[in-house]
Amino acid sequence: MNRNLALEFIRVTEMAAISSARWMGRGDEKAADQAAVDAMRSMLDSVECNATVVIGEGERDEAPMLYIGEKVGTGIGPDLDIALDPLEGTTICARGGVNAIAVIAIAEKGNLLNAPDTYMQKIAVGPEAAGLVNIKESATENLKRVAEAKKCRLQDLTAVILDRPRHKELIEEVRNSGARIQLIGDGDVSAAIATANPNSGVDILFGIGGAPEGVIAAAALRCVGGDFQGILKPRNEEEIERARKMGIEDINKVFQIHELAAGNVMFAATGVTDGTFLDGVKFKSWGATTHSIVMRSESGTVRHIRAEHHFDRKPRY
Ligand code: FBP
Repeated sequence: MNRNLALEFIRVTEMAAISSARWMGRGDEKAADQAAVDAMRSMLDSVECNATVVIGEGERDEAPMLYIGEKVGTGIGPDLDIALDPLEGTTICARGGVNAIAVIAIAEKGNLLNAPDTYMQKIAVGPEAAGLVNIKESATENLKRVAEAKKCRLQDLTAVILDRPRHKELIEEVRNSGARIQLIGDGDVSAAIATANPNSGVDILFGIGGAPEGVIAAAALRCVGGDFQGILKPRNEEEIERARKMGIEDINKVFQIHELAAGNVMFAATGVTDGTFLDGVKFKSWGATTHSIVMRSESGTVRHIRAEHHFDRKPRY
């Protein structure tokens, strides 16, 4: 995979971020998401590749654009798998909260898990604890292993968990273990990536969130040497059947990070609203500024890209 492709995909997330950021705090989740989808779709077609969306806005019948199976790119160039979330954190954006991002993960064809738009139980850690956690073990046991790896006390650790009623017992267990918790309203892709950032103050992510977000987070953690495991958590028979149709025979399978995102992967994200690892879009009289991150698993290079977009010279915005 040509390394410059990663930079091409930054344009795609930048455009989605700028378009959806116009809707920040305006209380309209649908409009914010639609703006991101439209922008991402139009920009993707300028990238020289023959790509298939393996994780996107849903199945063809429910998503008019960027649906699973949709072909994107110019059609000339490398065959790629793409996992995308044009606006990760639609509620965050609509409320003007923190950590809404436009995000995309890219791999050579056949290397990203083709999963339905269902739920996934997840565990994510940064490089120090990579290879040491096990999603089948209790939260307490995993916290002990992370504490050992980081040479600190369990009480020094912070677990990030989506604030949902389904996590009541998990939250209780983590509290009883003595570790601290950061409860988040939304946005577990950013939270999973934060476990690999020593300055984030977050050590481990637990809990059930979106399956697509799980694959995207796994791709990001591959680039920075972190670890991720996931188990699909379908809500009904129909979702189990959809997973089967996509080739997932054992619905209880533990997917290791390399089974979610294999080979050389690239990850690009642009902040929509201000967050812990990316700044949000700021509008100016002349245009807007963006903050993006682009990473490659092959080299481990992490680039932060701050861009000024002059709208008078970029009529597409
Ligand atoms: P969206 O991008 O669809 O807004 O997802 C936000 C999110 O919080 C994800 O980060 C998370 O994986 C998922 O929703 C959790 O799902 P639910 O809100 O149904 O618990």
